[in-house]
Amino acid sequence: MSITERDDSGASHPAIETVEGKRGYELVVAASFMVSVLATVGLGVSYWLGGQPQIEGALLFVTLGGIGIGMVAWGKYLVPQGPYVQERETLKSEILEREAFLESLERGQRQLGRRPFLGKLLGLSVGLFGIINIFPFLRSLGPQPKKALFTTPWKAGALIVSVGGAPITVDTLEVGGIQTVFPSYDVGGAISQTVLIRIGDTNWTTLPGRETWGPNGYLAYSKICTHAGCPVGLYQELTQQLLCPCHQSLFDVLTGATPVFGPAPRPLPQLPIYFDSKGNLRAQAGYDQPVGPGFWERG
Ligand code: FES
Repeated sequence: MSITERDDSGASHPAIETVEGKRGYELVVAASFMVSVLATVGLGVSYWLGGQPQIEGALLFVTLGGIGIGMVAWGKYLVPQGPYVQERETLKSEILEREAFLESLERGQRQLGRRPFLGKLLGLSVGLFGIINIFPFLRSLGPQPKKALFTTPWKAGALIVSVGGAPITVDTLEVGGIQTVFPSYDVGGAISQTVLIRIGDTNWTTLPGRETWGPNGYLAYSKICTHAGCPVGLYQELTQQLLCPCHQSLFDVLTGATPVFGPAPRPLPQLPIYFDSKGNLRAQAGYDQPVGPGFWERG
């Protein structure tokens, strides 16, 4: 059923359309919001998979277009339009007219309040779009470092070789000698570089718990300074200290490369090593702590 009202010009028109008449518009609005939601999900998936500018642009267009079309259609076709002028031939209204007015008013209120589904759909569409927009921010932070900041390529059983790829044997270094070494599968690797020093010809324990880490007087330390990452390559045999040339930090080789002078805040990590049955030097395991300076100081 519809009610006819008259406007300023005297023309009559349906004041409140039937529920059936509005249903088509409601479907249009709901479809617009649903299309927007689906496009937003597609946008999120596209970001997650690495992104493709043309696809993301098209999905963004559909997302915003769906919200816009839905809101415009809602406002234009589902919200009662005005102004309406009621005929007022007498100033005093009859009881029946007052009841009709109240009924009309309540019907209008019901019209405004009976579309919670569309409201929720609009909220879902806009909210999801806001959440999806966090993705570009997260992706701009770059790839996740995962365990890369805590580990190096060194691992148990790694064959230790010189920069030329030659395996290290017991006779490679004289007492007091020093050499830069790498795992055989990462020769030249920046964070794998390790200084090998021979401080004597008997097994040496630098710290409690490291009784097997210094076979035949060989000790291996990370070459990356714990202050700012310079290569620590100067060995003073007389004092058995390693010197970093950048800011003159000194590390005591005999006691686990603990810093004894300069700005370095912590010891050089020591690599546990052993000689295998063929006499080649190998790593017992990787470094037991991150190499180099703190994460936030690395270049
Ligand atoms: S980088 Fe080694 S002391 Fe500064």
